[in-house]
Amino acid sequence: MKHRIKSHTSNEVEVFAPSKINLFLAVTSKRADGYHGLSSVLAKLAYGDVIRVCKRNQSCGINLSCPGFEGLENSENLVFRAATLWFELTGESWGADINLEKRIPSMAGLGGGSSDAVSTLIALNHLGATQVSPKELIYLSAQIGSDCPSFGLDGLCFAEGRGEVVRSVDPSLTESLMGQKVLLFRPSIGFSTAEVYKKMSEKKNYSTESWSTARVLAWERGELSTESLLHNDLETVVFSKHLYYRPLFHQIEEEFSLVPKMSGSGSACFVLIPEEFENMPRLKELIWGAWGDDCWINLTQIIN
Ligand code: C5P
Repeated sequence: MKHRIKSHTSNEVEVFAPSKINLFLAVTSKRADGYHGLSSVLAKLAYGDVIRVCKRNQSCGINLSCPGFEGLENSENLVFRAATLWFELTGESWGADINLEKRIPSMAGLGGGSSDAVSTLIALNHLGATQVSPKELIYLSAQIGSDCPSFGLDGLCFAEGRGEVVRSVDPSLTESLMGQKVLLFRPSIGFSTAEVYKKMSEKKNYSTESWSTARVLAWERGELSTESLLHNDLETVVFSKHLYYRPLFHQIEEEFSLVPKMSGSGSACFVLIPEEFENMPRLKELIWGAWGDDCWINLTQIIN
């Protein structure tokens, strides 16, 4: 995770906060605690936010600024929660000015808020006299959000439980996907994760745990290609209400033989772009034509 630190001095540090996509997301149950049981494979992307933390006197407290997104500058922000938990756990007492350079769209299923929180923990760990161990960092992350622990590991990650039980995917598989081009696209609407999961629990259209685990293990053994692994159980829930997804997905499949998928609980989607692909202008034109000029598109790649 050290590679996420972009620059530092003794009292200031800048940390990259990658976005993520779910290459695989199976929802397997509704749990007694209200969360859903998952099996998921997550990949981090080069497109992301930047967190800058500056050490201040204790009397300054924790201050969060997010230029251009003033609505995010409040104690509900996961960055704020991460910082509060870190100070509680370490017992350190100094002030922190936190600047969040926001790029990852919110309510998109790209893990922006979760990644910002974990990068805040990495930044505080760097500046503090006390370091939270990698294991503690994952434990702390799980208290912030279900997606957070996956950002506490390098490389591709397999998540279970409600998303908080994480392990790294086989390193050679991670290595083979480094630099894989990914086209992200998002309609001009965002979805609440809680709402999407609520609808999922009404439909009860769950995958079995045995199928999900077998699928991921087959992929890790090299018996299943990454394209064949791609899956998201939440698509059914979202697509039955938002009728514009299926026609565009169908067109992308038909015209380009690519496999579009929604990431997490949406609304963002992605397509893995093969090295030899030469039709990018036409693919973008198709997406903008279907979802309008205000549809957000970004070409990025899988990183460690
Ligand atoms: O954990 P996090 O706060 O990110 O989750 C947001 C909401 O999404 C939860 O309150 C819950 O309603 C839903 N959720 C779920 N099962 C999961 C993860 C999230 O039902 N595994």
